[in-house]
Amino acid sequence: MRERSDIETVGVVGAGNMGNGIAQVAATYGYEVVMRDIEQQYVENGLEEIEFSLDRLVARETLTREEADAARERITGTTELSDIAKVDLVVEAVIEEMDVKKEVFTELDRITDDDVVLATNTSTLSITSIAAATDRPELVVGLHFMNPVPIMDGVEVVVGEKTADGVVDLAHGFAADLEKETWESEDKPGFVVNRVLIPWINEGIRAYDEGVASKEDMDRGLKLGTNVPMGPLELADHVGLDIVLRASETLHEELGDRYKPAYLLKRKVEAGDLGKKTGSGFYEYGE
Ligand code: CAA
Repeated sequence: MRERSDIETVGVVGAGNMGNGIAQVAATYGYEVVMRDIEQQYVENGLEEIEFSLDRLVARETLTREEADAARERITGTTELSDIAKVDLVVEAVIEEMDVKKEVFTELDRITDDDVVLATNTSTLSITSIAAATDRPELVVGLHFMNPVPIMDGVEVVVGEKTADGVVDLAHGFAADLEKETWESEDKPGFVVNRVLIPWINEGIRAYDEGVASKEDMDRGLKLGTNVPMGPLELADHVGLDIVLRASETLHEELGDRYKPAYLLKRKVEAGDLGKKTGSGFYEYGE
């Protein structure tokens, strides 16, 4: 297995919100990063989001201009998966569809050196199933970053059925190198965070839909009552309603009716109101 101290280059598969956040943070902590997506436009959008986020971190004096520029220079965008072939560690952050993840992992298994750890940022899918698409299941691990990646302090390490102990240690160590704190979860649906967070969001949506309170008061109540930074409806908008729905469906399938997605969540996703990213979710967002 390629050790933590050997890791200099990181391949990130997927340039969406999570992928570009992971690429940004890895580059900020000195890793050379190759970030890949399937279309040039997605790669460019990802790089733009990174630049925007780095600018915010400079504005709040978390980074100097020089550090931000150096981080940006360490990131190369590409549409070719083969450009990931020579990296020392891969973090996959493509869409939450098992078939797509499996395809990506089979390909990563084929093209990367066989001692390279392949991590997945999946938020609810089984690490063990994803690992089964490779010939190195012992080198596959869950490394679940939180959104927004540059700001959130924690990363969930998820241990698949066959994940080797050394790989679990490497996952904790790599996250620590990015100054993230970690906790560990077994490979059970939703792991620690989404097992609890997704039903919390769904219950907030249901309670709002059933007229318990206005959406503002649902969010205010949970924020003021429990000291969380966002209430369930705001948080759904922040994460993306489509992402929440997909996670809910996986949990519902695996764990039964207590995880049934809220009706209003489904209706909003069908209407294309996905939250902040589309300008409209439970709330409206300006440009
Ligand atoms: N990059 C750089 N800086 C960012 C940023 C980003 N992507 N996002 C926010 N910031 C900075 C802002 O510049 C701002 O800096 P200042 O304080 O210096 O002004 C600071 O963070 C706070 O941002 P805002 O003022 O815009 O808004 P806020 O105070 O509401 O904070 C938040 C935003 C950090 C997102 C906060 O509301 C929060 O922590 N919300 C909860 C997020 C959460 O629960 N995430 C986990 C979701 S679940 C998940 O990710 C798992 C899953 O699989 C679904």
